[in-house]
Amino acid sequence: MKRPYVFITRKLKEELLTPLFEMADVKMWDSESEAVPREILMKEAQKATALLTMLSDKVDKELLEQAPNLKVVANLAVGYDNIDVKVASERGVIVCNTPDVLTETTADLTFALMLATARRITEAQGFVKEGRWQSWSPFLLAGADVHHKTLGIVGMGKIGQAVARRAKGFGMEILYHNRSRHMEAEQEVGASYRSFEQLLAESDFVVCLTPLTDETKHLFDHDAFKRMKNSAFFINVGRGQVVDEEALIVALNSDEIAGAGLDVFYAEPIGSDHPLLRFPQVVAIPHIGSASVETRETMMKLCRDNIVAVIQGNKAKTVI
Ligand code: DGY
Repeated sequence: MKRPYVFITRKLKEELLTPLFEMADVKMWDSESEAVPREILMKEAQKATALLTMLSDKVDKELLEQAPNLKVVANLAVGYDNIDVKVASERGVIVCNTPDVLTETTADLTFALMLATARRITEAQGFVKEGRWQSWSPFLLAGADVHHKTLGIVGMGKIGQAVARRAKGFGMEILYHNRSRHMEAEQEVGASYRSFEQLLAESDFVVCLTPLTDETKHLFDHDAFKRMKNSAFFINVGRGQVVDEEALIVALNSDEIAGAGLDVFYAEPIGSDHPLLRFPQVVAIPHIGSASVETRETMMKLCRDNIVAVIQGNKAKTVI
């Protein structure tokens, strides 16, 4: 019988994938840091039984229609806006993601980004490393407090809830906006539901964790930033396209908001000439929400297990 063919779109540690090598012919793209070119992914998809993809790989209608043997796409991310799940389902292709295993790690990063932005950590580091520290002074790199402020979480999923738990330890008041009320979060951390507009008006830190969908695209537009307090910070660890970046630039330029911490961008990767990088009050990091070694390895193993399950005719653990 013909062995299944698995294509993995980045170079991953082989030892994490062992059971796959035993049961399938496995090919990995030979770079850990550079995305597989589209034309190669398209070619590989034509032969593949399974694809292990990154959030930077587009698994769209065009690709799916040219992948007659494809049974499963295991995406190394909790978000799956890079995959046309509707077309995949119509074609009987199972799509899996990596929920739960990255929750706490991504919440850590979200909190770190919020602290770094409010307390000007990266600016302060530059100040020391560039030899600009001449003397101590009372307001040198003075930022904003995080403790006991009001946190507004947009997208109260598991990561939002984990961020809220951390915020509780900082004595913050926690507001949230979500498609539906989240009673568990309300009970566990005392989070209060607000309309999107109310949340923007009341929060000192607006944290965006909502997935990218047709409804959330450009949710943060001119109007949204105008509604925020001038002293408030915008933190995005969701998806870049939830934000109208032009509107964010205007808001920062005109001091409508105090600053932004951004892990995600409209079109990734961004170059060093990206206009958002000109603002000292912007902390920008390269989409590393779930990037701890432990969590990334666990995510890879989950993708592996999902592919193994589908190839063996079993139910995958985390099907979208
Ligand atoms: C995800 O898993 O969707 C995150 O964006 C990765 O950091």
